[in-house]
Amino acid sequence: MSQQTPDAPTGSVLPAVGSGKRVRVHHLAAAKEAGERLTMLTAYDAPTGRIFDEAGIDMLLVGDSIGDNMLGHANTLPVTVEEMIPPARAVVRSTKRAMVVVDLPFGSYEASAEQAYTAAVQVMKETGAHAVKFEGGVRVAAQVELITGAGIPVVGHLGFTPQSENILGGKRVQGRGEDAVEKLCEDAVALQEAGVVAVVLEMVPAPVAARVTEILQVPTIGIGAGPACDGQVLVWLDMAGMGDWAPRFAKQFGQVGAELRRAAEAYAGEVRTGSYPAQEHSYQE
Ligand code: KIV
Repeated sequence: MSQQTPDAPTGSVLPAVGSGKRVRVHHLAAAKEAGERLTMLTAYDAPTGRIFDEAGIDMLLVGDSIGDNMLGHANTLPVTVEEMIPPARAVVRSTKRAMVVVDLPFGSYEASAEQAYTAAVQVMKETGAHAVKFEGGVRVAAQVELITGAGIPVVGHLGFTPQSENILGGKRVQGRGEDAVEKLCEDAVALQEAGVVAVVLEMVPAPVAARVTEILQVPTIGIGAGPACDGQVLVWLDMAGMGDWAPRFAKQFGQVGAELRRAAEAYAGEVRTGSYPAQEHSYQE
């Protein structure tokens, strides 16, 4: 039986949780048209993929933020296509409804449309994902066009683009000042004309994100970009209180890190005192 997510509006244009249907590119367009907000979180493994899918998150991003959030790197730059494949496979396998989007990591798409095409095809073939995402505007429009033309949906990423943090001078709000706003709008339109199905807007002033959202026909998905975007995305560890640091724009909707620490300490305590394992956790024959 199909079951709507607790908070999904009645008459949603998106497939219901439990309906056996995936969120697809036409649902993204329909959601924008209907004014229905899209939800997106990162996921890097099967357990979180399953939980977020069951929770009715519409899109799961296997982000290259796996680099700094899971693999212990300082940023996303060291991540390779090969490292993206196993987590992306795990997330695809563990979900029934969410559209799974996989980041093309730094160095896998910037040089040419052909380079990007090769990376996107590898990701799609080896993971079963439903779309790829990569950073940049006008400079990657040819990449978007070739990949989209080959039948692979592309999500764009503008504003603060973490792979360019060195040239941007660190994690800084983008799109400040008239010229920067014009450039952002130009990039957004170039991506749309090249065929993207959605655009992530990261760390841009809320009024600027509102303007980009208004001029685009495809949905914008904000992260630190205010409330006017057509959807929102967060790194799940920031959303759930799992990391030791979270950006100012992230709201913690849980304290998963504290709960995990409490569980680990309780486990260690019981092992040390001998109260775990008890009879009921043991095989007698
Ligand atoms: O890799 C990632 O997690 C991202 C989000 C910040 C949008 O690109």
